[in-house]
Amino acid sequence: MAATMMNIAVEQREISTKAFKNIQALIYKIAGISLSDAKKTLVSGRLNKRLRALQLTDFDDYYDFLLSSENNDTTKNNELQTFVDLLTTNETYFFREQLHFDFLVNNVLPNFINNQPLAIWSAASSSGEEAYTLAMLLAEHLGINSSWRILGTDISATILADARRAIYNEQRVRLVPAHYRHKYLLKGTGSQQGNVAVVPELKKHVHFESFNLIDGAISADKFDVIFCRNVLIYFDHQTKNKVVNRLCRNLKTGGYLISGRSESLHSLAHDLTTVQPSIYQQGLAQGKNNIRTVSHG
Ligand SMILES: C[S@@+](CC[C@H](N)C(=O)[O-])C[C@H]1O[C@@H](n2cnc3c(N)ncnc32)[C@H](O)[C@@H]1O
Repeated sequence: MAATMMNIAVEQREISTKAFKNIQALIYKIAGISLSDAKKTLVSGRLNKRLRALQLTDFDDYYDFLLSSENNDTTKNNELQTFVDLLTTNETYFFREQLHFDFLVNNVLPNFINNQPLAIWSAASSSGEEAYTLAMLLAEHLGINSSWRILGTDISATILADARRAIYNEQRVRLVPAHYRHKYLLKGTGSQQGNVAVVPELKKHVHFESFNLIDGAISADKFDVIFCRNVLIYFDHQTKNKVVNRLCRNLKTGGYLISGRSESLHSLAHDLTTVQPSIYQQGLAQGKNNIRTVSHG
């Protein structure tokens, strides 16, 4: 036992200050993520397995490998994707921050009850829990066959694969109200015992794509509501500004942008009106930096 533990300890490589600074700069350039110096141990913990897999001696070599992959062949390009996948934090859960869903149900959905098309974007969707929570609410309040659609996007390829699969461990759906669980989640049997799957009738309204919030190509699609929650905290002021203004280009006039509860857009320059903390509306403000609070009945 002692020998095994020693082997594990030997395999963990320390990250040099230079390599860490390079990695900080690279993840900032690719994803806009600002990693503080306090994240050094976390970063080396997450990336150590890549050194072993690629048989590299240290993090300086790993950084060189990443740089050489920036312009080169697809196999190496996958390493950049793996790097991003490992350094992003994907924590999410169904019905997270209920106040946003209450706002949606009480203030937005009543305008779409007569089968008017509704488009919602979950702009850092992680493994899909946010998008499928929205889908359950829309199915419930607008009808499962009405013309609503949900787009989920994320920078992480592995997490998007999970989102598309739409299979979750039963533990992960415990916050889904029982009524929704029975209607919209199928219990797994056999090899899927302990898992649940989102029903196909719900899944068909939800589509996932890869999209980088800092430089992904902006489509002409306009959304009624954009959820961009619990990702802005990883960005510095400048990046937040850029991301919020990019998202606004895809928001309809009168549409809502929703951030995480701990992510205020207050100090940013944008044309949104604050409806409630973390809920913003496009098209009602007087101009940049002129945020006013409106009351919603
Ligand atoms: C903590 S999760 C938030 C998930 C969900 N929105 C929620 O609130 O539960 C943050 C997600 O943002 C994604 N992300 C980080 N940087 C990104 C970027 N530049 N572009 C797109 N997605 C990004 C991560 O991959 C991760 O899945």
